[in-house]
Amino acid sequence: MAIGVLTAGGDCPGLNAAIRGVVARATDAGADVVGIESGWDGLMGGEIRALTRDDVRGILAMGGTILGTSRTDPYLQGEGYASVAPAIQEWNIETLVVIGGDGSLRTASRLERDGGVKIVGIPKTIDNDIGDTDYTLGFHTAVQIVVDAIDRLTTTAEAHNRVMVVEVMGRTTGWIAAAAGIAGGAEAILVPERDVDYAELASRIEKRHRTGHDYSVVVVAEGVAGPEGDTTTRGSDAFGYEMLGGVGDKVAADLAERTGFETRVTTLGYLQRGGTPTAFDRLLGTRLGVKAAELALEGRTGVMMAAKGGEIRAVDLARACEEIRDLDTELIEVAGWFVA
Ligand code: F6P
Repeated sequence: MAIGVLTAGGDCPGLNAAIRGVVARATDAGADVVGIESGWDGLMGGEIRALTRDDVRGILAMGGTILGTSRTDPYLQGEGYASVAPAIQEWNIETLVVIGGDGSLRTASRLERDGGVKIVGIPKTIDNDIGDTDYTLGFHTAVQIVVDAIDRLTTTAEAHNRVMVVEVMGRTTGWIAAAAGIAGGAEAILVPERDVDYAELASRIEKRHRTGHDYSVVVVAEGVAGPEGDTTTRGSDAFGYEMLGGVGDKVAADLAERTGFETRVTTLGYLQRGGTPTAFDRLLGTRLGVKAAELALEGRTGVMMAAKGGEIRAVDLARACEEIRDLDTELIEVAGWFVA
């Protein structure tokens, strides 16, 4: 019997640390591990290979995922469990370690229910929007990348007396915007969890500029409703996944019109997902991977590994990915003390 491991959905820094953790722990116990290429796509198409301890040497600090990933979903692009069953049987996979976001973890939970394959989930996404865990893998690195960008954008904004609008990812949540905005000292942080009063925002920024600080950094989460009240999307991708983005331009145009200040926009985009993970995400990925392997070795199923209060614990998978986890009100309140 083998333990299968796959990464599904959007990539994030720390995936390789988690894969390495699973393989190192499971192979040390004498288990066979197989890696599934390109997420659910590889399980449907049988793109699978054995993974040994040697295969995961030297990958800890690497961004991306050595297994590749995709947004393919066997329930949307296939026949559900029937489309993954042949590969599961051929490779003798008893447990699947699924390193995924909310959508991939929900799919995993459904496959467990429909076909009985054992599932151990690892929550990963830069968005930090999965329930029942303090952090998701990749969030810390994305926040650090955004903070570094804000630090740089602040000096050029100050040099030119500009309002610098920084659009960040996060889908329907403001985790990245709030954490990075607070840590980067932004003058305003716009998150989807709070309605934005654009007239009030403009007057706060005007006031700040009148009283001696004639530059501002405004962090905008991609899922925020723009000045016209709607979410900005760039349509859907080939898998029907809505592509958010572009609200930063609208916010900047609105602020420029209301205040008359010179305004610029930086959309950080995929920079937030690429490159080497921080030490925190390497450690978190490794701990989640090792624990996931241990649970798989014990024959557990329907669980997700979670970071809770400094410990790695097993929580109920179906419950954890039932709903998107919105930004903590505590973070929103902290952010509120520093606006303009
Ligand atoms: O879920 C992670 C995420 O990076 C979101 O923040 C972003 O909206 C989305 O993925 C982009 O996904 P894609 O890679 O499909 O363009």
